[in-house]
Amino acid sequence: MNNLFDISGKVAVVTGAGGVLAGTVAKYLAEQGCHVAALDLRESAVTGLGSGITGFGCNVLDEENLADVCSAVLEKFGRVDMLFNGAGGNMPGATIGPDQTLYDIKLEDYSKVLDLNLKGTLLPTLVFSKPMTRQVSGGAIVNFSSMAATQPLTRVMGYGNAKAGIDNLTRFLAVELAVKFGAKIRVNAIAPGFFVTNQNRALLTTPDGGYTERGNDVIRKTPLRRFGVPEEILGCIHYLVSDAAKFVTGTIIPVDGGFSAFSGV
Ligand SMILES: NC(=O)c1ccc[n+]([C@@H]2O[C@H](COP(=O)([O-])OP(=O)(O)OC[C@H]3O[C@@H](n4cnc5c(N)ncnc54)[C@H](O)[C@@H]3O)[C@@H](O)[C@H]2O)c1
Repeated sequence: MNNLFDISGKVAVVTGAGGVLAGTVAKYLAEQGCHVAALDLRESAVTGLGSGITGFGCNVLDEENLADVCSAVLEKFGRVDMLFNGAGGNMPGATIGPDQTLYDIKLEDYSKVLDLNLKGTLLPTLVFSKPMTRQVSGGAIVNFSSMAATQPLTRVMGYGNAKAGIDNLTRFLAVELAVKFGAKIRVNAIAPGFFVTNQNRALLTTPDGGYTERGNDVIRKTPLRRFGVPEEILGCIHYLVSDAAKFVTGTIIPVDGGFSAFSGV
């Protein structure tokens, strides 16, 4: 039997690759022998990431920009086998601070967060799934959900709403693409638990390496009693895009130290 996990030679597009989680994914895929196109709004964050990785400055909310990058990827590699929708994030105005109420939400920021996470997943999918539909071998798409998608987290309104949309979009796309283009395109999502990254470092940890009150709340609800380290999403990511998951589509897999399984009591 072939090695179910062999992904060498595949062409992978990773959005938000200048960030912590998607950047870790981009480097890992290159180590596995993939040709990686690393996209980020901040071009400097995806230049010089390492051998096997080509950086592109790209805004996931700009269709023209995405189409140009897709053309460049096709010109260089001739195909797109995998898409990782890693660009995403939150903004203070889309959250409700401890001293605020629902009525303090800044709708402009709320819309920006919905756009970045939800539309910023849909638009790259529209662009990069097209070549997959033309390839005999199809392709695999992985979206980035969150714990905030299914159990609303206090404060985190806009982001949680957007990630809930990503769960729905993941299932919708899995069905839609399979029904119209056959079983060759699979769409799944990973739902990371709490990983200390640029977005949440100040919220979860103190400068001396301890936990904030919120950090402690998260740890209490995480049966494995710690935050994740970025490399711990790689096994799930690798599985989802490999032949090992050939019959797997429309799933959202938590990698969360048990956070989603635990009521907290
Ligand atoms: N860190 C966590 O604990 C955690 C948990 C659950 C889900 N996630 C999700 O995982 C994904 C990656 O998270 P991370 O913690 O590595 O984030 P990060 O902030 O480290 O990286 C996000 C990257 O996206 C880029 N970006 C922002 N706007 C963009 C745009 N319009 N176009 C292109 N790129 C853009 C940023 O420049 C940044 O490099 C996000 O979708 C995030 O919501 C993270």
